[in-house]
Amino acid sequence: MQQPSDKSVSSRLKAFADSDRIAAAKPTATNADADYSMICRQLEGLIDGEKDRVANLANCSALLWQELTDINWVGFYLIKRNKLVLGPFQGKPACSRIEIGQGVCGTAAAISKTVIVADVHQFPGHIACDLMSKSEIVVPMLKDGQLIGVLDIDSPVVDRFDHRDQQGLEELLQVLILRL
Ligand code: SME
Repeated sequence: MQQPSDKSVSSRLKAFADSDRIAAAKPTATNADADYSMICRQLEGLIDGEKDRVANLANCSALLWQELTDINWVGFYLIKRNKLVLGPFQGKPACSRIEIGQGVCGTAAAISKTVIVADVHQFPGHIACDLMSKSEIVVPMLKDGQLIGVLDIDSPVVDRFDHRDQQGLEELLQVLILRL
């Protein structure tokens, strides 16, 4: 896998940490009502017995689009020939390919860890696909220890995502990955 320079990833992570501190000083996020265990059960029903990767990714993105509040984009980027390539999504048309290490998606892919950005304007190298986007969460997808892609969700609200979203989405992807 092509690796970004240490400097590029570390400067993005510093920005991420800084923006997280800004987020911590703010009042509440708007997602207290997201019921991820219910969303997980819905996903299990949608993908039960279906082995087609595109069908399952498409239904997962549609389910999250339907159930999460205050989001303007949700979808997948999948690893193909060492790049992230746009997969099933809901929202406005988006950039088709992202280099590993570039943008929020490429950073999460490079470190294989969830990245939450409270204010995308504070994240150097953020790739703006929809000018409405203010905050973002990117969750890596690991199957048998291998990175196969990322789930990306954008919000028009600053500081929309927190550790509850991270935990809920990471659990949801465990369910989804069994059917990819
Ligand atoms: N903002 C992302 C690009 C993908 S769009 O948000 C759909 C990034 O910086 O990687």
